[in-house]
Amino acid sequence: MRTGCAQAVLEPGDEVVCGWPSFPSYVIYAAKLGAVAVKVPLRGYRYDLRALLDAVTPRTKLVYLCVPNNPTGTMNTRAELDAYFADVPAHVLTVVDQAYFEYIDDPDYPDAIAEHFAAGRRVLVARTFSKIYGLAGLRVGYGVAPADVVTAIGKVRRAFDLTTQAQTAALASIGDARELERRRSQNRTGREELERILRNHGLEPVGPAVANFIFADARGDAQRIFDALLREGVIVRPLAGFGAPEAIRVTVGTPEEHAFLDAALGRITAAAGAS
Ligand SMILES: Cc1ncc(COP(=O)(O)O)c(C=O)c1O
Repeated sequence: MRTGCAQAVLEPGDEVVCGWPSFPSYVIYAAKLGAVAVKVPLRGYRYDLRALLDAVTPRTKLVYLCVPNNPTGTMNTRAELDAYFADVPAHVLTVVDQAYFEYIDDPDYPDAIAEHFAAGRRVLVARTFSKIYGLAGLRVGYGVAPADVVTAIGKVRRAFDLTTQAQTAALASIGDARELERRRSQNRTGREELERILRNHGLEPVGPAVANFIFADARGDAQRIFDALLREGVIVRPLAGFGAPEAIRVTVGTPEEHAFLDAALGRITAAAGAS
């Protein structure tokens, strides 16, 4: 959906605007098409929507709003998005990436389909079955956009790009509000536990985190911690490719996985202290 949108819209020399650190694919899609990515620094680890608007030029075709932002896990509020949409120039298509939408229970978090798309804004809202639904390997998601954008994406997407299995699994997943609530609340509890563990080991979490991962400042030690944890059997994400070489991202796991991480971090800290 996001690749198709970039392919449908961008010509060489066009500009896209996104926050940074953020999801690197926005920058990669642009580079593949000869477009220029304008990366706007986050403010307090959150997308700075006013600064994004200031970065828009006549060549800007796409603005990406990653809410919540990967990798920081922070969100923007309804009021911030409303103010953005009130001011964004008409030649811009805004992509609101809500990959983690279903995890969030903050009443200030907007539903960009029900609110901004429905209000006639020029917006593509992207959602996925890869996150709370756990179907990442099936490569299935969806987007909602104005008809001309959907038609343009239809022209560049591969024929038969969604497998029957993916469609069946996606349809079986939607509509079970109780199961979604169970996952959302389990994630909330797990996230709080993960924050405590990271903090106890000197890895200060950034917040408020609203998705299923935590961004933690490793103060220049990110690569060492990543390597050491890998040797312990734990994979975290070092974030140089996301624009945050000083930090790691850790996904919420089960209580057993958290205990395993806690013990591994304890050994790593002890070894670093001894060396
Ligand atoms: C912000 C964001 N958008 C999109 C994706 C990718 O989703 P999909 O698996 O549907 O391509 C991710 C996953 O890492 C993400 O973090």
